[in-house]
Amino acid sequence: MKLAVLTGAGISAESGVPTFRGQGGLWKSYRPEELATPQAFRRNPALVWEWYLWRRSVIAKAEPNAGHIALVELERKYTENFLLITQNVDGLHQRAGSKRLVELHGNIWRVKCLSCGVVYYDYSVSYAQLPPACKECGGLIRPDVVWFGEALPEDALELAIRWARSCDVFVVIGTSAVVYPAGELPYLAKEHGAKVIEINPESTPVSPIADVIIREPASSGVKKLLEVL
Ligand code: APR
Repeated sequence: MKLAVLTGAGISAESGVPTFRGQGGLWKSYRPEELATPQAFRRNPALVWEWYLWRRSVIAKAEPNAGHIALVELERKYTENFLLITQNVDGLHQRAGSKRLVELHGNIWRVKCLSCGVVYYDYSVSYAQLPPACKECGGLIRPDVVWFGEALPEDALELAIRWARSCDVFVVIGTSAVVYPAGELPYLAKEHGAKVIEINPESTPVSPIADVIIREPASSGVKKLLEVL
């Protein structure tokens, strides 16, 4: 059996990382167009960095939860028949031990230089000066995440689409499925005959096409998944 899993911010909620649109979600108190677009970064890179450093400091205090860990167990069980596709930039799947992982929206711990193009990991939660400079050329660096209006990394998206089209079971965990193209993947999987399983305490646009719904938080819901699979 070939198994693909799509995760969103909800899987990290129980680790203390705020979601975007849920209660206390980031987009309730911050305006994405001021902080998560290339235009916002051009206008005020220091302000955007200040916000990403705050998010880094929250994520740095977080630990992977039982939901992340149960997905590592699934990966061990299904090995090459398993792929984890995440919209999350927090790196908690990697910290839990996930290897067969595709990051659709980048990673908050990686930076990209706008001058020399170098990409590297940087675990700083503060910088002496904002915006920070590239360690290679001194140029302006940005978080290596996908902002609104930007294209997703081609390889990652292509792989995710290929698995959505060829898997037997497609599991959707902790996403409101309103952001595209990630939100399209469950429908693609359904169209290609996969069984769709949703784990989310709330209903989402995916709920009507789900064959199985586990209306629970990820930490208990993914454990249940281990039982049904
Ligand atoms: N377990 C499982 N799901 C949960 C939990 C939990 N403990 N807590 C909340 N959820 C669910 C919510 O019900 C909601 O459906 O997680 C979902 C979170 O939705 P969003 O906040 O919209 O996050 P996400 O779907 O990941 O957002 C997609 O939007 O802002 C951009 O790039 C950002 O990757 C992000 C994308």
